[in-house]
Amino acid sequence: MKIAMISSECVPFAKTGGLADVVGALPKALRKLGHEVIVVLPLYGSIDYRKHGIELFIAPIGVRMGNSLEWCAVHKAICDGVISVYFIEYDKYFQRDGLYHDAWFNDYADNPKRFAFFSRAALQLLCDMNWAPDVVHAHDWQAALAMAYLKIGYENDPFLADAAGLLTIHNIAYQGIYGSEHLDYTGLNRENFRPEIFEDHGRINYLKGGIYFADMVNTVSPTYARETRSGPLSCGMAPSLNNKGDRYTGVLNGVDYAHWSPESDRYLPVKYSAQEMDGKKAAKKRLQETFHLTVDEKIPIIGIVSRFVAQKGLDVFAQVVEPILREMAVQFAVLGSGDKGLEHYYGMLPGRYPGKVGSHIGYSDELSHLIEGGSDFFLMPSQYEPCGLNQIYSLKYGTLPIVRATGGLDDTVEQYDEKAGSGNGFKFYVLSPTAIYYTVGWAVSTWYDRPAHITAMRRAAMAKDFSWETSAKQYVALYERAIAGFTGAGI
Ligand code: ADP
Ligand code: GLC
Repeated sequence: MKIAMISSECVPFAKTGGLADVVGALPKALRKLGHEVIVVLPLYGSIDYRKHGIELFIAPIGVRMGNSLEWCAVHKAICDGVISVYFIEYDKYFQRDGLYHDAWFNDYADNPKRFAFFSRAALQLLCDMNWAPDVVHAHDWQAALAMAYLKIGYENDPFLADAAGLLTIHNIAYQGIYGSEHLDYTGLNRENFRPEIFEDHGRINYLKGGIYFADMVNTVSPTYARETRSGPLSCGMAPSLNNKGDRYTGVLNGVDYAHWSPESDRYLPVKYSAQEMDGKKAAKKRLQETFHLTVDEKIPIIGIVSRFVAQKGLDVFAQVVEPILREMAVQFAVLGSGDKGLEHYYGMLPGRYPGKVGSHIGYSDELSHLIEGGSDFFLMPSQYEPCGLNQIYSLKYGTLPIVRATGGLDDTVEQYDEKAGSGNGFKFYVLSPTAIYYTVGWAVSTWYDRPAHITAMRRAAMAKDFSWETSAKQYVALYERAIAGFTGAGI
């Protein structure tokens, strides 16, 4: 099968969150199953052209946006020796450091144009390189318009007319909703500006239109797929998703263990495995030193690596972290950035509790790996979590997750059973300061009072296998269903 993935992020080129990890790993897993996969990304100003061996591929490419033809260039790199990644170069939209927003987290005002252009340019590239995919696989609202353009715009194109579309939703709270004045630039005719398709309270909703036109839609865990079919977690998309019937489903993300395993992690001072755990002690010491925590292997460390956005529940955690620090013998290592209030709060906490909390406000791959390896527990008190990758990484590092049971967190973490000593993490159900307080307390008391259970849970956690192979097979099944349910030209 020939699959073209269109995404705004992909490791190692451009990343703000888990989407990049997924798009960096899934193509390789599909390739191993014998499929041909290419990835199309924007050429952001922050992408290191030389380091990644990127080269000019084709120029110019003419992209029809509304009534005008806009010209861009395409560059190419080979990722991990097997996956061709194409980059749309259009300086007017992408020659800036941020992917979606400036350094103050203000969304770029021209995002509706940037990602409409990107979605259309990606399809135009396939035509210009004479590459006829069986499936176009678009990720999130940034690429969702590709699903529409396949059915209206490219429906008679010799290379794209027979391509089916799969849209993967990594986070339904981000939909790309913009003023209807952008409709003309997108080139989607007014007929599509209807509530069942793109219209959303007088505005244009990219994700909603993408859902409508995709032959199959999925999200990144079975529980989140259920949660988004009704109620507040659907963020208004329930009718659109329910209209898809069984053509909307959930596939759990996998993990690229080439990047996320203590057995091969280049950021750890000493590598380790379930059989040889000394390296975890070395990572803990390094973490305590790096985050200016009291160096003591007996005190448990709880790690946090997160975007600071409402989704992640760190505002709720902020309401109890100080009582926890005052009353429990525990340490925290926090890495994250985003909301300025939370950055300020977690940034100043180490000053108030020296030796007990360390924080780094910013983005650092190196520190994120050190926190996974050196921590004893990993906290994710998410309001909602489509899949969540850090808790799955944590399992492999023998770092027991403490999570709110929602979405993929619920699907991947097994609750600790205090009688049997089984499970691989600690779950709570209601997102409240009290629930976080008692669940953290439960984990910390287990550390001190039932160390044998911690050892058993670590072993169980590290034995779990969430490699991409299983999920990639499920994606192949979705591609087959998208092809079988192919709806051809739209309205
Ligand atoms: P989301 O995509 O919602 O942010 P995930 O758990 O799926 O959540 O993925 C988050 C990814 O981003 C992980 O690979 C995590 O390590 C990484 N990450 C998040 N914040 C940071 C940060 N400040 N520094 C480094 N990596 C980060
Ligand atoms: C989104 C979600 C996260 C998921 C990631 C990758 O950013 O917030 O839960 O793991 O996408 O699918």
